[in-house]
Order: sequence, then structure tokens, then C-alpha cells
Amino acid sequence: MKSGSIVFLSLGALAAAAPQVTLTPLSGPIPPVRSSEVTGPTSHGPFSGTPTVTGALSRPATAMSIAPAGSPVVTYTNDNGDLQATYMPVPYQPAGGQGLNGTTPYYHPLSDFDYESLTLALYQEWIELDLFHNGLARFSVQDFEAAGLTAEDRFLIEFMADQEVGHATLLSNILGPAAPPQCTYNYPYNTVREFIDFCQKLTRFGESGVYGFLGHLDSRESATLLLQSISTEARQQLIFRQFDGLFPMPVWFEVGVPQSFAWTLLAPYISSCPANTTRLAWQNFPSLTILNQPNPAKTNPNLGTPQPATGSNPLNSSGIADSNRCIHASGESSDCGPAISQNRSIPLSYPGRPIHLSWGNVNQTVGPNNSYVTSRSPLADAPRYAMFLSQLNATYVPLLNISGNTASVIQPNMSTFAGDPAVNGTIFISVVSQNPYVTPFNVSMVLPYVWAGPSLYQAG
Ligand SMILES: *[C@@H]1O[C@H](CO)[C@@H](O)[C@H](O)[C@H]1NC(C)=O
Ligand SMILES: *[C@@H]1O[C@H](CO)[C@@H](O)[C@H](O)[C@H]1NC(C)=O
Ligand SMILES: *[C@@H]1O[C@H](CO)[C@@H](O)[C@H](O)[C@H]1NC(C)=O
Ligand SMILES: *[C@@H]1O[C@H](CO)[C@@H](O)[C@H](O)[C@H]1NC(C)=O
Ligand SMILES: *[C@@H]1O[C@H](CO)[C@@H](O)[C@H](O)[C@H]1NC(C)=O
Ligand SMILES: *[C@@H]1O[C@H](CO)[C@@H](O)[C@H](O)[C@H]1NC(C)=O
Ligand SMILES: *[C@@H]1O[C@H](CO)[C@@H](O)[C@H](O)[C@H]1NC(C)=O
Ligand SMILES: *[C@@H]1O[C@H](CO)[C@@H](O)[C@H](O)[C@H]1NC(C)=O
Ligand SMILES: *[C@@H]1O[C@H](CO)[C@@H](O)[C@H](O)[C@H]1NC(C)=O
Ligand SMILES: *[C@@H]1O[C@H](CO)[C@@H](O)[C@H](O)[C@H]1NC(C)=O
Ligand SMILES: *[C@@H]1O[C@H](CO)[C@@H](O)[C@H](O)[C@H]1NC(C)=O
Repeated sequence: MKSGSIVFLSLGALAAAAPQVTLTPLSGPIPPVRSSEVTGPTSHGPFSGTPTVTGALSRPATAMSIAPAGSPVVTYTNDNGDLQATYMPVPYQPAGGQGLNGTTPYYHPLSDFDYESLTLALYQEWIELDLFHNGLARFSVQDFEAAGLTAEDRFLIEFMADQEVGHATLLSNILGPAAPPQCTYNYPYNTVREFIDFCQKLTRFGESGVYGFLGHLDSRESATLLLQSISTEARQQLIFRQFDGLFPMPVWFEVGVPQSFAWTLLAPYISSCPANTTRLAWQNFPSLTILNQPNPAKTNPNLGTPQPATGSNPLNSSGIADSNRCIHASGESSDCGPAISQNRSIPLSYPGRPIHLSWGNVNQTVGPNNSYVTSRSPLADAPRYAMFLSQLNATYVPLLNISGNTASVIQPNMSTFAGDPAVNGTIFISVVSQNPYVTPFNVSMVLPYVWAGPSLYQAG
């Protein structure tokens, strides 16, 4: 007998005896458009072949940048706290809101913007599914225990991988038949600590990449479902910070970044995708390397040879003096083992810290099958500023000592509200040619001026 009919019969029988049982769904679960079990690859490593197609999906552009268009027409204000409308649609429902007039929700993209944004999110969910499994498979129980992670912690990582099955299924169903499948990946970590730090960084740009477009989607229905999965991803990011011995949430607000920032950070870790995988329209900017990335595996991040990190590459657990290794350091504020919360005796970064940068070139191949190409707009005519994108803020700091593909910049002292330092946690730095004033809902206006990056900066 088919399992579908078992569900039907048992629910039917229960209904008579126990009326509280909800009689749905009668037909059993709807299979996902893409199943991770069917497409899941087993190999990892770099791609060494020739791409069959190159470049982002595109159509002729009608302009090189979006012109500022002034303020919107605002038809509602409320200064007295009372209801402003004469009527309510139904009792207890204030007038207004979208999607509340009885129209059946339509949980699918309504524009190319929606489709490309949700497809990028699916590329992200697939790598997370593979990554969490890969870390568990690659390292031994002894390796994990040496990094302070127990069997229960490993089960949590496994559970997070399972969550990704759900997220990938959800997005595949939203996108429909051309939803991209899982790809093959190439990871930059060699130790458990580096794996955990990479997860902490990858989930940061996964989460922030979605916040950057969520409020801009045409499909509010899709946005609602996506937020319900990205809220879970936000918790994953926090848990990986805890496993990494970092203060779990050193910010008051989580930053949102444009899709091309997320894609620039994600693409280098996808080595190849199956033939005919749906491609993306987002830009791959030239890479950005932070030559002196603060290292959370050190007690004093200011000691020892500065360690570089490109894009989202993790901390480097080699080349640290034993006396400066914080994982098993004694003293409550010096140790950095996994914990619910960790105070660091010496913060990872500080306002006034010199940050040294180097960047890659245009026309370099990246991403699946090396089939995407780095580029920048002609409006990005020279490297002039570092943009620090964190919390609610985008702050531009002039570059110093620009020489060839390198420059330096001083970490700014800026706050969100009430003195809360805006530069903390895992943040985004890009090199840009202009410094347009942008706020969380129009941050994409900076894209024509991006020279390189972003790279993730481990500010705290
Ligand atoms: C409900 O709102 C949608 C979107 O604004 C609109 O297209 C539709 O016509 C409305 N339906 C009714 C019954 O008013
Ligand atoms: C990418 O490479 C894989 C492995 O060599 C190959 O099977 C696939 O067809 C390639 N995809 C594209 C789009 O070229
Ligand atoms: C890829 O698409 C082409 C053209 O639609 C088709 O002929 C080919 O069979 C597809 N390959 C795979 C592996 O799906
Ligand atoms: C760490 O640095 C060593 C060289 O000191 C290098 O071989 C290794 O790839 C680096 N690891 C990471 C994760 O960057
Ligand atoms: C943790 O750090 C905060 C601020 O940096 C400090 O006020 C607090 O005393 C520290 N607590 C411990 C137990 O180290
Ligand atoms: C980041 O936040 C932590 C926890 O409040 C604090 O100890 C640290 O000094 C902050 N770092 C910076 C760069 O502000
Ligand atoms: C990059 O490639 C484009 C198109 O092939 C070419 O016009 C341009 O000169 C190249 N730029 C550099 C810096 O190589
Ligand atoms: C810029 O170069 C000068 C001269 O070498 C040096 O003194 C200064 O520290 C550099 N600035 C930064 C931010 O690295
Ligand atoms: C940063 O600015 C705040 C005021 O907003 C000030 O209290 C603090 O001392 C400054 N920190 C540094 C290192 O300049
Ligand atoms: C950061 O953003 C908040 C909220 O928009 C704003 O109040 C604050 O002034 C900004 N801080 C800086 C340094 O731009
Ligand atoms: C972005 O929005 C702010 C208002 O929040 C506005 O002042 C600014 O001019 C806008 N930036 C651009 C580049 O349009």
C-alpha cells in the first residue's frame, strides 16, 4: 500500500475518535522541486576545467547608476496616536497593510529581482548544507574535543545541516523548475577552529545578504517565508560565534548588504555546478584581502606576524605562538574556548587600528567552473575610500598610502545610538571610489562605485 493512503486512512480513523486532529494534508508531503538526497555531491576541491559558459546573466543596462529621485509622497502621518481612518476593514483590524484583503497568497517570484535574489539565497543554503556536513565528516571526534566541542555540540551542527535541507526545499519550491541544484565546493579550512570560524563568517554574509534585499522584494509572500528561514540562520551565526569563543552578539543591529556583496563572498568557494545550473545576474567584484585580519584564536591579536584573509577566509590557526594561543589559556577573560559568552581581555580591534588592504583585478575568473568574471563599473575609476558597513551604518574612511593594489585605512570610531560602537562583530569592508551617503534601505546605491571587495573584517 502506498504511504499516501496510510496517512489518509489513519487520519480518517482518528477523526471520529479525536475531533481535534486536523485533517490536513490528506495527500502527504509534497516532494521538493530539488531534493538534496538526489543531487548531493560527495567530492570537494578546486575546479580544473574549462567553463562552457562565462559571465553573469545580463541584458543591456539602461544606465550606469540610479539617479537619486527625491522623497516619496507620504500620505500617512500620526502625531496623536489615534486611529486616523474613519473605518476599519473588520473589527480589531486597523486600516491599511498589504496582502490582507482576502487575496490568496502567491509564494513565488514576481520579478527578475525577486527570482535572482531568491536564487542567490538558494545557492547559499546549498553550500551551508554541504559545509556543516563536511566539517563533521572531515574532522575526528578527537579533533573536535581538542577544540572544546562535545558530542552534543556536534549534534547541534548536524541539526543545523538538517535545517538547511528544509531551507533549500523551501526556496526550491518558491523558485520552481529552474531552481539550481547543489554544487561542488572547495573550502579554505584545515582545522576544526578554522572550520567553525568559516561557518561563522559564511552564515554572516548569508544572513546579511538576505537582509539587504528582503524589504525590496516584489513578492511579500516569498519575503515572509524567507525571513522565517533566515531567522534560523541568524541563530546559527550566533552559535558558531559561541563555538568560536567570540562574544555572541556584540552589536545592536545586524547589517544588510547588497546581493553582489554576498555573491562576491560566496562564489570563490563553489568549485563547479552541474551542467545547465541556473546562473546568476549579480556582480563579482575584485577580491579584497585584509592583510592584518584580527585572529580570534590569539589571546593578544596584536602580537605575532599579521595574518592575511581574503574575502571570507577563516582565521588561521597555524603560526600562533603557543603562549598566545587562547583556546586553552588560563584566566576567564583570556581563554577563548566554546562558551555561551566570552569576554576577551584584549579586544580583537579598536578605533584607530591601522588596517592594511590589498585587492585583486578585474577579468579574473571565479565561482562555479571558473565561469564568472570579476568586474567593476567604469564609475569606480580609482580606489579612494574604505567603506565600513556595519549595523545601521556605512562609513567611508579615506585610504592612505595607496600603492599599486594596496592601501591602508584607520578603523573609524562611530556609533549607532547612545555610544554603541558600530564597528564590532563580523563586518564588511569594501574599497570604493565615491562616498555616497547611504542608509540601510538604499545601500545598493554604492554599487557603481565599488572598486574591490567586500572582505569580512573580524572587528570583534
Ligand atoms: C486586493 O489587493 C490586491 C493587491 O493590492 C489587488 O490586486 C486586488 O485586486 C485586491 N482584491 C480585492 C478583492 O480588493
Ligand atoms: C562544470 O563542471 C562540471 C564538472 O566538470 C561539469 O559536469 C559541468 O557540466 C560544468 N558546468 C558548466 C556550466 O560548465
Ligand atoms: C542541458 O541543456 C541542454 C539544452 O537544453 C540539453 O540538451 C541537455 O540535455 C542538458 N543537459 C543536462 C545534463 O541536463
Ligand atoms: C594559514 O597559514 C599557512 C601558512 O602559514 C597557510 O599554509 C594556510 O593555508 C593558512 N590557512 C588558512 C585557513 O588561511
Ligand atoms: C566583560 O567585559 C565588560 C565590558 O568589556 C566588563 O564590563 C565586564 O566587567 C567583563 N566581565 C568579566 C567577567 O570579565
Ligand atoms: C565589541 O564588543 C565587545 C563586547 O561588548 C567589547 O568587549 C569590545 O571592546 C568591542 N570591540 C570594539 C572594537 O568596539
Ligand atoms: C577586461 O576585459 C574586457 C573585455 O574583454 C576588456 O575590454 C578590458 O580591457 C579588460 N580589462 C583589463 C584590466 O584587463
Ligand atoms: C603610511 O606610510 C607611512 C610612511 O611609510 C607610515 O608612517 C604610516 O604608518 C602609514 N600609514 C598606515 C595607516 O599604515
Ligand atoms: C569614540 O567616540 C566616543 C564618543 O562618541 C568617545 O567617548 C570615545 O572615547 C572614542 N574612542 C576613541 C578610541 O577615540
Ligand atoms: C549610524 O546610523 C544611525 C541610525 O541611522 C545614526 O543615528 C548614526 O548617526 C549613524 N552613525 C554614524 C557614525 O554615521
Ligand atoms: C539614501 O537615503 C538617505 C536617506 O535615508 C538619503 O539622504 C540619501 O541621499 C540616499 N542616498 C542616495 C545615494 O540616494
